[in-house]
Amino acid sequence: MKKFIFLTGFMGCGKTTIGKAMKKRLHIPYYDTDEMIESETGLTIPEIFKDKGEAHFRDLETELLSGFKDLRPGVVSCGGGLVLRPENVTLMKSLGTIVFLTATPESILDRVIRADNRPLLEGRKTVEDITKLLSSRLPTYESAADIVIATDDHSPDFIIDEILSQLDN
Ligand code: S3P
Repeated sequence: MKKFIFLTGFMGCGKTTIGKAMKKRLHIPYYDTDEMIESETGLTIPEIFKDKGEAHFRDLETELLSGFKDLRPGVVSCGGGLVLRPENVTLMKSLGTIVFLTATPESILDRVIRADNRPLLEGRKTVEDITKLLSSRLPTYESAADIVIATDDHSPDFIIDEILSQLDN
């Protein structure tokens, strides 16, 4: 693998599941930007948001991303807000392909409802609130994406097949 595959999309769209399945199936390195930030700072994502604010977290994301040029290419599960900064998108495009995984607000809610590690969704775990935030981000996800894949009702293997067939094109 010569280039990175950046999995992007809203919280709960399956980036981690697909990323880990790609690592296992393709024997490629796997990276998770949230986990890397947590291990580098020694803080959880909710702690960073609470103590330092979202803007600081976004700075950490950009800083982390700029170090990817020195890593072995593989698949990256990106924090759901990583593509919101145009400079991040430019960096990601210079390093590889951006895959936007889509999911309906209903299936997103289903996947995030029991977790308490996403500060932006605390107190907002309803289909209405998720729809609102998702719609405000949709144009950004779409314009950043090289490849768009719907995840609803599909198995990880099917989704990976789709990604690989579009990567070859
Ligand atoms: C965020 C998504 C989260 C995490 C942070 C902010 C976002 O990652 O980076 O809570 O702004 O969409 P996941 O998409 O992996 O949940």
